[in-house]
Amino acid sequence: MEIMKSLLFAFVLLSNLFGEDSFITKSEYGEQLYKKPRGIGCSNCHGKGGSGMKITSYLHKKKKKEIIAPSIRFLSAKKIEEGVNKHPSFVPKYFLVEDEYKSLEAFLEKK
Ligand code: HEC
Repeated sequence: MEIMKSLLFAFVLLSNLFGEDSFITKSEYGEQLYKKPRGIGCSNCHGKGGSGMKITSYLHKKKKKEIIAPSIRFLSAKKIEEGVNKHPSFVPKYFLVEDEYKSLEAFLEKK
């Protein structure tokens, strides 16, 4: 009986470690990347779900100027990659791979 108990225990332990719960979907990975890529989070500028936001405003020759991070929802992985690589110079550089852009796409269209 003890043996059965420890087998059951081992099974439960293993299925918790390797069960389906421990795998994340593309969109969940995209969410993690979006919030905390290797660098400053996209969410700091593009808002929580990628809907865009005003980063700051300033006066230039007495005219009010705004810096806006546009909405990036529903963009294809390719477009996200292009946008990230065309960021203005005040945005840190990111070195993401194709799969990561696809995960971001999955997250940003589900949000
Ligand atoms: C420090 C602020 C900042 C951070 C952090 C940032 N962005 Fe941006 N992003 C911008 C700004 C500002 C623009 C607009 C650039 C322009 O208008 O030329 C932009 C543009 C883009 C575009 C192009 C959108 C379009 O419609 O052309 C994409 C895509 C994008 N960012 C994705 C991301 C992703 C993904 C991340 C995280 C990995 C990220 N950005 C992090 C500020 C930021």
